[in-house]
Amino acid sequence: MRAVTWQGKRNVRVEDVPDPRIQEPTDAVIRITSSGLCGSDLHLYEVLTPFMTPGDILGHEPIGIVEEVGAGVPDLQVGDRVVVPFQIACGNCWMCLTGLPTQCETTQVHGEGMGAALFGYTRLYGAVPGAQAEYLRVPQAQYGPIKVPEGPPDDRFVYLSDVLPTAWQAVAYADVPQGGSIAVLGLGPIGDMACRVAQVRGAGRVFGVDLVPERLSRARARGVETYDLRSFDNEKELVAAIRDETDGRGPDAVIDAVGTEAHGSAAAKLAQQASAMLPRKLGGPLAERFSVDRLGALYTAIDLVRRGGTLSLSGVYGGMADPMPMLTLFDKQIQMRMGQANVRRWSDDIIPYLTDEDPLGVDDFATHRVPLSEAPHAYEMFQRKQDGAVKVLMQP
Ligand SMILES: NC(=O)c1ccc[n+]([C@@H]2O[C@H](COP(=O)([O-])OP(=O)(O)OC[C@H]3O[C@@H](n4cnc5c(N)ncnc54)[C@H](O)[C@@H]3O)[C@@H](O)[C@H]2O)c1
Ligand SMILES: [Zn+2]
Ligand SMILES: [Zn+2]
Repeated sequence: MRAVTWQGKRNVRVEDVPDPRIQEPTDAVIRITSSGLCGSDLHLYEVLTPFMTPGDILGHEPIGIVEEVGAGVPDLQVGDRVVVPFQIACGNCWMCLTGLPTQCETTQVHGEGMGAALFGYTRLYGAVPGAQAEYLRVPQAQYGPIKVPEGPPDDRFVYLSDVLPTAWQAVAYADVPQGGSIAVLGLGPIGDMACRVAQVRGAGRVFGVDLVPERLSRARARGVETYDLRSFDNEKELVAAIRDETDGRGPDAVIDAVGTEAHGSAAAKLAQQASAMLPRKLGGPLAERFSVDRLGALYTAIDLVRRGGTLSLSGVYGGMADPMPMLTLFDKQIQMRMGQANVRRWSDDIIPYLTDEDPLGVDDFATHRVPLSEAPHAYEMFQRKQDGAVKVLMQP
């Protein structure tokens, strides 16, 4: 089959690889019809290079048709249409039963000291072949895949794999009071969708911050009060502007939907680039121990949130020694919640919103649909935020 493979820093290639097969009774194989390109893939594209191996198959946002099922997957039939969550979880361990499939005790990557395995996401997360491909082997298929109806286009359901539950969890963790205020930093797919979820879940005012014009105008068109980072001399001014709108206090909650590659963190950017250039054996441990996060957005979030408010991080961070302003966090009495999204914890709450009325605007959320063969161009365009690219779906 054809698959998008990682070959090196900013280098992906579509290659012929062996077709996946059922290996365990709890496996299924699906034929992918659409597969998303995610901000998380961009981390692999550049800064997480030390954790990748050339040839790794990328991708973790698939929808498709069941092609083959193992004997231990009673609820799936060949021909079913399914969305597959980006994390692999058993559904039956203590963590899964607690609503934390990202911490699944059956699939945790013990060798690396990490949580549940993820599709297409470095050796830290199990080096599992990913979903930007024609076919995908789905381990633990008795739990993960979500059956969806035939009829509507893939766009209606594909975001259940990641974007929707991530945005939903971001808003749930933000814990905004009804009618309260929330600011979302970063208006990529995750931040944009988090604004939409906050609106439908009763936030009174939703502020959105980014520095890419098309992303700002997309959010503004849906009633978000947008702020262009570039129009301020520094983050302090941005914070002051939003505080002015919230009785001088700051919003009740702030979502960081930016993560480790925040714009405006020059020193950390150099450190990240340096560790991405080291030989793999050295770069991995170094990146883990010495921290390479660019913390610009997180610092802004800490400054911006009101005293006693909540920070919800969905942007991915990976450093182990990030300097944090503990004085401010403690003094402002800030609550912080974070993590990969627990897809099946939220999916049943989200599905009622995926209707013809389309309150979340999923049907035209994608800005680009490209054949799998154009993946190298799609990665470059999405990373550089060219051509108005916000959400790209690849179609094998
Ligand atoms: N927690 C999860 O389960 C989960 C799931 C999916 C994605 N993510 C993470 O969420 C983050 C966002 O993902 P995405 O797909 O929307 O990616 P993205 O890269 O398209 O979005 C990031 C946005 O942040 C903006 N930005 C950069 N610096 C900024 C700053 N200082 N202030 C405000 N905005 C800034 C960028 O212009 C961009 O629009 C990534 O870190 C991704 O890895 C987490
Ligand atoms: Zn994703
Ligand atoms: Zn489990």
